[in-house]
Amino acid sequence: MKKYQLYTTMGAGFESVVAKELQSLGYETRTENGRVFFEGNQSDIVKTNLWLRTADRVKILLKEFKATDFDTLYNQVYDIDWAELLPVDAKFPVQGRSVRSKLHSEPGIQSIVKKAIVNKMSDQYHRRGFLPETGSEYPLDIHIYKDLARISLDTTGASLFKRGYRIEHGGAPLKENFAASLIKLTPYDGTHPLIDPMTGSGTLAIEAALIGRNIAPGTWRKFAFDDFDWFDSDLHDDLLEQAKSEVRTLDQPIWACDIDQSILEIAKLNANNAGVLQDIYFKQVAVKDFATDLENGVIIANPPYGKRLKEKKTAEELYVQMGEALSKYDDFSQYYLVGDPEFEQFFGKTATKKRKLFNGNLRVDFYQYWAKKK
Ligand SMILES: C[S@@+](CC[C@H](N)C(=O)[O-])C[C@H]1O[C@@H](n2cnc3c(N)ncnc32)[C@H](O)[C@@H]1O
Repeated sequence: MKKYQLYTTMGAGFESVVAKELQSLGYETRTENGRVFFEGNQSDIVKTNLWLRTADRVKILLKEFKATDFDTLYNQVYDIDWAELLPVDAKFPVQGRSVRSKLHSEPGIQSIVKKAIVNKMSDQYHRRGFLPETGSEYPLDIHIYKDLARISLDTTGASLFKRGYRIEHGGAPLKENFAASLIKLTPYDGTHPLIDPMTGSGTLAIEAALIGRNIAPGTWRKFAFDDFDWFDSDLHDDLLEQAKSEVRTLDQPIWACDIDQSILEIAKLNANNAGVLQDIYFKQVAVKDFATDLENGVIIANPPYGKRLKEKKTAEELYVQMGEALSKYDDFSQYYLVGDPEFEQFFGKTATKKRKLFNGNLRVDFYQYWAKKK
């Protein structure tokens, strides 16, 4: 089978987490800012889309070249054998991005690339005039960084965080791949308990259950490659079947608590859609009243943060309650994703380690309190 240069994209700061995940799937990786490269065939495209929990997308790098003027950009793109990739009726949106490069007009870059592909396909398919673009979608992107242009085909489609189990409810849930990345930063592997005392719609608890039960996060969705006419359509079915046969049971409990019963009902629906409802114990309880007899596990949470002054005060009071109710469970490694730089003062304990992250545009810290072994 033909080998491709592949790469994954991910949220800022998660390159090493994604690289580790790819390595555990058996790939050799090379990391750059925002990208992890690896090599693979069509089967690997299916496998990585199906199994990567922490990445955004898997793309095929079609070509990379230096481009400081539009003529070079046009010629380099025209030179690609587009008829091998795109059928005559292909829909091929082109996204353009340029950073710190001589060619900086993104609409200009996009339209030159589109023109080069249209002209080449017209020549290859002996067509004059417009291409119909009425068929399947082949999402392309051109990215120029410091004059190095890369043209890629996205094999994923909607970002991998869209697992397909979530019910929209208008709250502020963590993205699924972000939640999975946070869990990957803890020692959690399903062999110890995990507790989210402020679970909201349940993303952390559900992603933990998927990890613990070895359920592929792409089980419920389609990918862009499903519509590529040259793609072996049996591969997806085969690898999905194989993934389903590798699901295991979870012996250790996952607790998902929240003060708000209505959000817990949403979390239960999400867990049910993800097939892990029976793996999670949902409990309505305020943090200040939280108690557990579980031992030696992971506590992980994304407490509310206060944007406005009044909310800030409430959030700070909650951090104090968290410290009083949770820090005594020192046989649990504890992880809190918080936007407040003074969290440790309110929580009453200095973190073992902090990791700077972005939750969307919001600068946050992942406060880590490592367990004392009993
Ligand atoms: C930022 S949300 C968590 C979002 C969640 N990680 C998700 O992906 O949906 C914070 C949650 O903390 C809960 N919460 C607020 N105060 C609480 C308290 N005193 N005790 C327990 N939960 C509380 C809220 O009801 C809310 O669901």
